[in-house]
Amino acid sequence: MTVCEYRAGLEGIPATQSSISFVDGQRGLLEYRGISVEELAEKSTFLETSYLLIWGELPKKEELELFEYEICHHRRLKYRIRDMMKCFPEGGHPMDALQACAAALGLFYSRRALDDPAYIRAAVVRLLAKIPTMVAAFQLMRKGNDPIQPRDDLDYSANFLYMLTETEPDPFAAHVFDVCLTLHAEHTINASTFSALVTASTLTDPYAVVASAVGTLAGPLHGGANEEVITMLEDEIGTIENVRPYVEHCIEKKAKIMGFGHRVYKVKDPRATILQQLAEQLFEKYGEDQFYDIAVELERVVQEKLGHKGIYANVDFYSGLVYRKLGIPTDLFTPVFAISRTAGWLAHWKEQLGENRIFRPTQIYTGTHGNPYIPMEKR
Ligand code: SDX
Repeated sequence: MTVCEYRAGLEGIPATQSSISFVDGQRGLLEYRGISVEELAEKSTFLETSYLLIWGELPKKEELELFEYEICHHRRLKYRIRDMMKCFPEGGHPMDALQACAAALGLFYSRRALDDPAYIRAAVVRLLAKIPTMVAAFQLMRKGNDPIQPRDDLDYSANFLYMLTETEPDPFAAHVFDVCLTLHAEHTINASTFSALVTASTLTDPYAVVASAVGTLAGPLHGGANEEVITMLEDEIGTIENVRPYVEHCIEKKAKIMGFGHRVYKVKDPRATILQQLAEQLFEKYGEDQFYDIAVELERVVQEKLGHKGIYANVDFYSGLVYRKLGIPTDLFTPVFAISRTAGWLAHWKEQLGENRIFRPTQIYTGTHGNPYIPMEKR
């Protein structure tokens, strides 16, 4: 066996083999099952893309209709999950609530038959169907309201916005949201997907797999950055004049500017380009966002100062501006990312089960050996 050198963050080290998605970080390309994300954003829907990611091929008409039907009919939450959620503190972060709810699903569906395609399909359907309902329910419950039931006449994205805002969304808003879900659905072996893979490799249940991935996505270096971008634009920068001094201050202090930089992309993230276009379309239709100009100026200055290091806008930079215009509260941006990425996590779970071997890397020990046990009174 060849022993590789240690690389912090496993940079550049393949952790698995996969045919699900592909990123070319130098050219700014992203493909799901060989199809460009731009084409899927334009022509597909989130559920069709999820099917593609998980089962490897675009569904035929009747396959898609069945998948949509099944998801539509599994959106409701068991009353015990809702009762459990009533005990959550309303000040708690929605990602923590989502992680607890995803894990709790395992209590209700404890049969584990990982070699049964029907079990795999049921778990995929339940998770894709119920996670949006959990996010919306937490939002209403923390405001002291009862969650509202999903509506069978609304598609996946329109129904989520309806459950969240208690108002049927404009079809254009629902379409934009659906494109956002497609864009976030999968991205090779990022931190949360790696987490999902490690958990999956122990042959635990899929609810534990998704719960561990949700916990990993929450951090500000990963999915949590979309929330931090809005805080930065609003509270830390605030005006166009402050952009340049803010960037210079961050560079001097070696602080990370949220929504920029990527382990793989050394050019602008292709998803950021599409999200920026979506933001502009939304502003044209529903009115401008005062922070958009600040965002554009920030991107310009970061590119000027850090472009030589390959630091450009990533997926989390413009998504928050889109979500805000759709009426989604800032601390739900990362749960929305999780709704979408559940498709990618499940695709990797299924792929991992196909050729499973438990993850058990090695380490380079940096401690000492043969140390004496020092009695308490002598320490
Ligand atoms: C996501 O992996 C995926 O695919 C993730 C994702 C997905 O779809 O799953 O694309 C989603 O997580 C997007 C990333 C969201 N995070 C942020 O926006 C947080 C800010 N960005 C970073 O902290 C950072 O760029 C990372 C975490 C995204 C990448 O970290 P790396 O690869 O470990 O890079 P690094 O922190 O070691 O930085 C390398 C250099 C350093 O400079 P030097 O010490 O070499 O001089 O680049 C600089 C860093 O200081 N740098 C930044 C920067 N990001 C990197 N400097 C200022 N601001 C930044 N944002």
